[in-house]
Amino acid sequence: MQDTFVLKGNICFSADRDHLSVFEDSFVVCEKGICRGVFSRLPEKYRGLPCREYPDRIIIPGLVDLHTHAPQNGFRGLGMDRELLEWLNAYTFPEESRYSDPEYAGRAYRIFVEELQKGATTRAVIFATAHVGATLLLMELLDEAGLCAYVGKVNMDRNCAPEICEAGAGESAKETRRWLDLCAQRGFRTVRPILTPRFIPACSDELMRELSKIQREYGLPLQSHLSENRREIAWVRELCPDARFYADAYDRYGLFGGDVPTVMAHCVHSTDEETKLLRKRGVFVAHCPQSNAALASGIAPVRRYLDMGIKVGLGTDVAAGFSLSVFRAMADAVQCSKLRWSLADDSLSPLTMAEAFYLATKGGGEFFGKTGSFEDGYEFDAVVLDDANLRHPQKLTVQERLERLVYLSDDRNVEAKYAAGRQVAGKKQAAGCCSDRAGAPAAEAVRK
Ligand code: GUN
Ligand code: FE
Repeated sequence: MQDTFVLKGNICFSADRDHLSVFEDSFVVCEKGICRGVFSRLPEKYRGLPCREYPDRIIIPGLVDLHTHAPQNGFRGLGMDRELLEWLNAYTFPEESRYSDPEYAGRAYRIFVEELQKGATTRAVIFATAHVGATLLLMELLDEAGLCAYVGKVNMDRNCAPEICEAGAGESAKETRRWLDLCAQRGFRTVRPILTPRFIPACSDELMRELSKIQREYGLPLQSHLSENRREIAWVRELCPDARFYADAYDRYGLFGGDVPTVMAHCVHSTDEETKLLRKRGVFVAHCPQSNAALASGIAPVRRYLDMGIKVGLGTDVAAGFSLSVFRAMADAVQCSKLRWSLADDSLSPLTMAEAFYLATKGGGEFFGKTGSFEDGYEFDAVVLDDANLRHPQKLTVQERLERLVYLSDDRNVEAKYAAGRQVAGKKQAAGCCSDRAGAPAAEAVRK
């Protein structure tokens, strides 16, 4: 059962991409897991609810990681010396092949979930590996932690090392159905399956046909990679000579948005035609700036996507991205957009911090439905941030303090976390009743 309660603190959220709303010393209401809005004076009808006070803390919606790879967490910060295709063969496929061993997978995924839980992420869209057992284990651990996630058993039946390559399209489809049936039996609470063809070079035409059938049978959303690296794109052209452009290689199987909620990571080098199709089909772009820098892939034209009305969120893309922090992804998105503006194309103005905040919350959150905001009717995900250790001699506004928390991206500033209306991390408070506090003048805030 989800809780009904009120949080009190300095509340920040984005309702649109240009503005950050800041409510100092205010209240945010959660009613049976649904946000009922932010109030500087608590309405009468909520005054009987339990109130958890976070004096002088900053409270934001939970952050959304629209693209990451759980089995790559263990080699974050290693092997940053290749481009995509060499990097996959040298580091990624050998590591992912270890997840055939349930004991190894258990150890590694426990670390991943603990690390995710320590940060400000409440929702994530996650690649597992091709292994059914290990993928279910990851889903169980995330569900136990109360984190909201889409998790995909990866499909890959060509152009990869034998120890990670599935034995043909039939086998890959059979294992995917087995995985989906086991997911249904387990009845996860906060975790859902998502169809996950790795990328076109690793999926045969026959496999794509099978996945298309499975998608329709089970009504699944889909995640994959798109137009990340120039050599990858040239390879797709060779592998799929009939496809008009990379996205068309998904689209011709009905696996590119429209009725299929779809998130595509990267879109660094999408052509005009591809960009138009992203918009037409309502496909989400997971912008992964750190990964794109690390693998020397390039910098996606996020400003253009936003101006066109394409849906965009942020991804950490671990382990091509070395940080699991979506705060860090926000800072990187702003930084990379500035480099792109100064070095490549000054027609696209750099992203602002308010825009990065929007992408990390409501922008990516839309993939999960009404999430990522404190507006009335949104699922209640919240992160309580304590910045007392980020010392400064001058007075700062709440917005400035939040900006520092983003740039300095340190999980130790996360004091408590709520996902889908439940507290999932941080000390639990014995909540008092709101009625004593609703109209009281702002408590004297003592900053250490
Ligand atoms: N394309 C196919 N697989 C991967 C992966 O694991 N990481 C990244 N960044 N791109 C991919
Ligand atoms: Fe990726």
